[in-house]
Amino acid sequence: MEPVVLGLIGCGNISDAYLAGAARSQAVTIKACADQQPAVAQAKAQAHDILALSVDDLLADPEIALVVNLTVPDAHVPVGLAVLAAGKHHYSEKPLGTTVAEARRLVEAAARQDRRLGCAPDTFLGGAHQAARRLVDEGAIGRPVGGTVAFMTAGMQGWHPNPDFFFQPGGGPVLDVGPYYVAALVNLFGPVRRVAAIASRAHDTRTIGSGPRAGETVPVAVPTHFNGALEFGNGANVSFIASWDVRRHAHNEIEIYGTEGSLIVPDPNFFGGNPRLSVDGGDWQDQPIDAHPFGAPNFTTGRGKRVANYRMIGVVDMACALRTGRPHRCDAAFALHALEVMEGLHVSAETGRHVAIESRCERPEPVPVGAGEGVFVA
Ligand SMILES: NC(=O)c1ccc[n+]([C@@H]2O[C@H](COP(=O)([O-])OP(=O)(O)OC[C@H]3O[C@@H](n4cnc5c(N)ncnc54)[C@H](O)[C@@H]3O)[C@@H](O)[C@H]2O)c1
Repeated sequence: MEPVVLGLIGCGNISDAYLAGAARSQAVTIKACADQQPAVAQAKAQAHDILALSVDDLLADPEIALVVNLTVPDAHVPVGLAVLAAGKHHYSEKPLGTTVAEARRLVEAAARQDRRLGCAPDTFLGGAHQAARRLVDEGAIGRPVGGTVAFMTAGMQGWHPNPDFFFQPGGGPVLDVGPYYVAALVNLFGPVRRVAAIASRAHDTRTIGSGPRAGETVPVAVPTHFNGALEFGNGANVSFIASWDVRRHAHNEIEIYGTEGSLIVPDPNFFGGNPRLSVDGGDWQDQPIDAHPFGAPNFTTGRGKRVANYRMIGVVDMACALRTGRPHRCDAAFALHALEVMEGLHVSAETGRHVAIESRCERPEPVPVGAGEGVFVA
């Protein structure tokens, strides 16, 4: 299969993970990158032996079929509309847009242009989450009844050199980190029917902890501690805590409960780890994930922890889908639904009311068992 030729717009913090993922893949090749800061694109291009172009020149390049948009959240839709207008397929980092209304404009433009729209996260394609999906589908926990999400840290200002966007509308823990959790849950349980939340904010400013702007404060314009609840169409309801106001806690990231058993689901920010199953109140048993691709550790974090990081695999799946004509898994309906859930948590916190979720999506097809990206074309 000829690789699909990609262009990358937005050469910041996360772009190295995508460039590393593309380098591992036979299905895609990155030809060029662009950034609104030309020097940033130039440095990235040099480090990865690709071209640095202006955004306009990248969009005008006829060889580039698919653009990966790694800009900040409030540029996802404007850049995406330009990509689609240039006749190219578009895959962006999460969230699909900062509001459901603007994301719908992107979805409509993709339909008009007959181009594909994809969106991160792709972590639910990882071995851990696919193994959990298989267990749920096989009835290992019985009929799903509930669950808990506990994502809590002290925030992004400590490590990110330009954390401003995390604390502006379109940011906050629900829109920034929530996508991983909502995607993991929708992959397991299907779409959400309604949501509710209470939210608060511990600090009005944050102090940047690293990089050239260390010591500078940035304003906080969004709530940073959410206590939410999601009711799924399958009848399960899940507690959803997302916070950047917590120094330490001792909860699992995701637990799900069914009539016959309980499952601890590994961190949805990554691809690996062993789900842990308890049947009928028995001991927790580690569940193997070796049969699934994209679960083996391949990356060492800044803290020296070995994790599975296959970011980009959603783009690879989309590229393979383009070649074979099948649907891609990280698709716009899935991402729009996740965004509506996250926006609904904000709206519920502001209004004090439950919010009905109108959009629906299919659960993405499970990733076949096997090794490597070959599973996407088998
Ligand atoms: N940093 C992470 O660990 C991480 C992890 C997963 C997902 N993400 C997501 O990836 C996206 C980017 O995050 P980041 O941390 O790399 O941000 P960043 O601020 O480090 O980089 C963003 C880059 O996009 C460029 N840019 C912004 N608007 C642009 C525009 N209109 N046209 C061209 N270039 C533009 C900026 O100049 C900057 O170089 C966000 O949506 C974020 O949620 C980040």
